[in-house]
Amino acid sequence: MSKIRIALTKGRLEKDTVQLLQSIGYDCTQVMEKGRRLILPVGDDMEVVLAKAADVITYVEHGVCDLGVVGKDTIIEAGGNFYEIIDLGFGKCRFAVAGKVGEDVFSGFGTKTIATKYPNVARRHFEARGMDVNIIKIEGSVELAPLLHLADAIVDIVETGSTLRENGLEVKEEICPISARLICNIASMKLHKDSIEKLVAEIETALNNTPKG
Ligand code: PRP
Repeated sequence: MSKIRIALTKGRLEKDTVQLLQSIGYDCTQVMEKGRRLILPVGDDMEVVLAKAADVITYVEHGVCDLGVVGKDTIIEAGGNFYEIIDLGFGKCRFAVAGKVGEDVFSGFGTKTIATKYPNVARRHFEARGMDVNIIKIEGSVELAPLLHLADAIVDIVETGSTLRENGLEVKEEICPISARLICNIASMKLHKDSIEKLVAEIETALNNTPKG
């Protein structure tokens, strides 16, 4: 039986995912001591691939990874053809519209400019509000855009709110809550049905025994 391959989002979600896998009995020593390696064995029957969030979806969609752990933010933005099987409960944050403290970012008649790493999320949100906006894609630290007068507001993920606070910005509108999800390639669900069902059951039991945060 071939190994199950799971793509993990590097960075924010990595520690919680490794903790979860450890808690259900997978030996993640090699992931914790990975150095610059990107594919690491986890126990005898699984291997972990470390990737950027959007690439986790790409690898799972194309079937080179059977499973993936990725934020709902990336799933909503990128979409794709895969099963979303469990809400893992960690990586909790939210999508929000933010702008300068005390400024009514939606006042006046002109078309507003929105900076974001998530143009699809932003476009859908403002379409639903019946607002015509210009969207500018920014790759990182989108908070800079209103400070540099490039945009009237931003659409971004907010976790603790510190980045907004420390840059004189505040949430103007909540869009939706976000958390990490386990996703699965459609063919893998059939090919590795027993192993995946077993893993999912173990994860669900672990999550039910974890205090809700
Ligand atoms: C995200 C997001 C905000 C920040 C919010 O960026 O784009 O900048 O986190 O978190 P907070 O509410 O806890 O301050 P991230 O740190 O992932 O880095 P990036 O800008 O390079 O994407």
